[in-house]
Parts: sequence; structure tokens; C-alpha cells
Amino acid sequence: MTQRACVGVFDSGIGGLSVWREIIRLMPSVSTLYLADQAHLPYGTRSPEEIQNLALGIARFLLSEGVSLIVVACNTASGAALSSLRQALPDTPFVGMEPAIKPAVERTQTGHVGVLATPTTFRGELFQRLMARFRHRVAIHTATCPGLVQRVEDGALDGTEALHHVEACLRPLLTYPIDQLVLGCTHYPFARTLIQEVVGSEVALIDPAPAVARQTKRLLLNHHHPIPSETKPSHRFITTGQKANLRVPLESLLGLQVTVERATWRDGKLQFA
Ligand code: DGL
Repeated sequence: MTQRACVGVFDSGIGGLSVWREIIRLMPSVSTLYLADQAHLPYGTRSPEEIQNLALGIARFLLSEGVSLIVVACNTASGAALSSLRQALPDTPFVGMEPAIKPAVERTQTGHVGVLATPTTFRGELFQRLMARFRHRVAIHTATCPGLVQRVEDGALDGTEALHHVEACLRPLLTYPIDQLVLGCTHYPFARTLIQEVVGSEVALIDPAPAVARQTKRLLLNHHHPIPSETKPSHRFITTGQKANLRVPLESLLGLQVTVERATWRDGKLQFA
């Protein structure tokens, strides 16, 4: 039995839209359902257990809305919850994310790679495994940027305050001759211009979103979900926060004017408000 593909995508907020747009670029005819858990933003300072519960609630909700595959468009949630999601829902194909250290290691000329991600991503097993795998080949320097996720959500990315904020976060990294900076949080590609201004044009910024989109396509085809070639796709956007917090960035970042739906949490389950 084959079923028309509908891709579920989720994140704590609007960051996963940086992955969503690559999925659409690669498969313009595929339907999607995007969920932003803005009631719990940011995930980056929450415990892995808390994120596991939230991710499972979201995955069940997306499946009840008919998605055929789920993209965890969040490095923090992937690090904390991907293996527990796969265990709890073994019949569901999941695509996860991890900081793109591998391409950075392959491309660096200086032997110094920077990674910008959330505290929970750095504490997670997934990241520790990546470090163990690549640490002996190059020097990997990590940095967090408290408040940057919220800044992206608020669209407050211009002006000297934003510049000073990101400069203060990246200053320790820039004491090393890094030539690759891995954007290890899906919110950060939306702050790309700001980050590039701080690190300078000689540092390449690495965003794994195109690779995640390619993996999504591979997995859809492996699971026999035909990608329609002509039909008009449907794209739904749901937030657990205020509708405007998703509607406004959809328009300003992606130029989309859409109706946003709202779901609320009750006893660990998501339901329509
Ligand atoms: N966008 C997410 C990530 O990729 C999480 C940001 C947050 O909520 O802290 O890590």
C-alpha cells in the first residue's frame, strides 16, 4: 500500500522553518505540517527528559494529523529525543539532525572548526559521539549564545545591540583561527547575515538543512511514499504559542501569508485549542 507523502516537521519555534524551506525547495509538490512548540521555547536549556516527553507528544499529534514521516528540525530535540522517539514509535520514519561537524572537518584548511549550538545539544550523547569521532583530526571549539534563539523569534537581528550580542558570544571562538563555523541550531541560519558580519567573510558557515532535506526525500522513497509531481501541495502551520508568533515570521522570513492554527498542551498531550 502506498500513501501520498505528507511530511511532519517540528521545532521549539521558527528555527525548523530553515529546514522546512529546504524540503520545499527540493520537493515543491510535497505536503507538509509544521509544528512550532513555542509554548516551550527555548528547548536549549531544558532537560533531556523534558524534551523527550514534549517530542513524543508532538510526534503522536503529528501522526494523528496524518503525516507519513517526521523531521525533527531541531538539533536540541534530536540530541535529546531521537532515539527515544524511534523506540516509542518504531513504525514511524524519523529524520533527525546533528551539528554538521563532518563537512566542517573535511573542509577546514586551518584545522580549527567552531560549533555554535545550545547547551543541551552540547551536553547530549549525540554531540559527545561526534566529538569522540572527530576530535583527533581537528580542533573543535564550541560556543553557545544565550538569547539568540529568542532574538531570531523576535526578528531582532539588525542594529548594534544585535551585533554586540553575537560578538560577545563568538569572541572566545574567534581567538582561534577557525575557518568553518557549524550552525548547530536551526534558528541560526536566520541570523546568518549577522553571524557572518561578526566572524568575517573568510569563515564559512555550515548549515545542514539541505542535507536533511535530501535525507527526507530518500526516506520517503524508501518507505514507498510517492512524491506527487503535479498536485498542489497543502502546507499547514501549527503553534502551541500565540498564532502571531508564527504568522509574523512566516511572512517576514519566508514571504508566506498563511492561516496559523493553534494547539494546546493538556496532560502531556497536544490537542486543538
Ligand atoms: N532550533 C533548536 C535547535 O536546533 C532549538 C532552539 C531552542 O529552542 O533552544 O537546537
